[in-house]
Amino acid sequence: MIVIGGSASTNLAEKVAKQLGQEPGRIEIKRFPDGEKYIRIHEEVKGQDVALIQSLYRTPDEYVFEYLLIADTLRDMGAASITGVIPYLAYARQDSRFYPGEALSSVSIARFFEAVGTTSIITVDCHLHRLGDVSKVFKIPAQNVSAMTLLGRYARDNLRPKRPIVVGPDEEAEQWAGTVAKELDAKHAAFTKKRIRKEGETKSRVVIDTGNVDVKDQDVVFADDIISTGGTLAEAARACKRKGAKRIFVVCTHPALADGALKRIKAAGVSRIVGTDTIPSPISTVSVAPVIAAALKTRS
Ligand code: R5P
Repeated sequence: MIVIGGSASTNLAEKVAKQLGQEPGRIEIKRFPDGEKYIRIHEEVKGQDVALIQSLYRTPDEYVFEYLLIADTLRDMGAASITGVIPYLAYARQDSRFYPGEALSSVSIARFFEAVGTTSIITVDCHLHRLGDVSKVFKIPAQNVSAMTLLGRYARDNLRPKRPIVVGPDEEAEQWAGTVAKELDAKHAAFTKKRIRKEGETKSRVVIDTGNVDVKDQDVVFADDIISTGGTLAEAARACKRKGAKRIFVVCTHPALADGALKRIKAAGVSRIVGTDTIPSPISTVSVAPVIAAALKTRS
């Protein structure tokens, strides 16, 4: 299998290739003076299985289009299969038409990827609040792998929480809290969250309900898939402080970190925030390369 990284995931592609005992496939990506992208693949891909790694963060539209150009070129050059490895699948959160006329972006993205010859998909901790499973969005085989075991081990070995409880800041995050808790040999729980978004606005306000979860005198480790604005975790951390929690840590897969998110979360009393390299960031300490490589191994 040839592993190729788009410009969003050059470093991650190198790490994944290394895990598989090979060099990453050579690709040239430049920009023409007018802003268009120039793509050239310097590998013989005819009859080969190719894994194309491209995470869709910060400038997702640019990276989506670049993915489409590369995949279409691979198909045209005769690649036997194209596995789209999309560590952070942008647009997954818009999986419902909340107001009439809104784009169902998660479905549209899936159609675009399929249209250029992608034969299967691997994502990492994909956010599919209402659908629950990435294979329900794509018509081609789609697999989700999780970074939560790696994050749990990192927390155990490096954060070393005392009397830990692992908490998902909302209902969907309970699954991730459960996986992290196993590594810490701790209990886990989940809060409930309401997001209030007014019609015509893209920003929303978050209201967290801690229910009867007891965090008094315990170290809390939050586990979540994405930190976007940090509003969810800041609210959840403040709620824990009010209930008498000791130290608060956060582990998350995708540090999207929009809009001063780190500052916002730290100001709420969080001691350390750890993320992965699905999105390069100042907190991307844990690499998802091993879980991606393991998933690719089962296909080659
Ligand atoms: C949503 O349900 C996700 O799991 C995250 O909790 C959410 O996307 C984080 O967004 P923000 O950081 O803007 O609150």
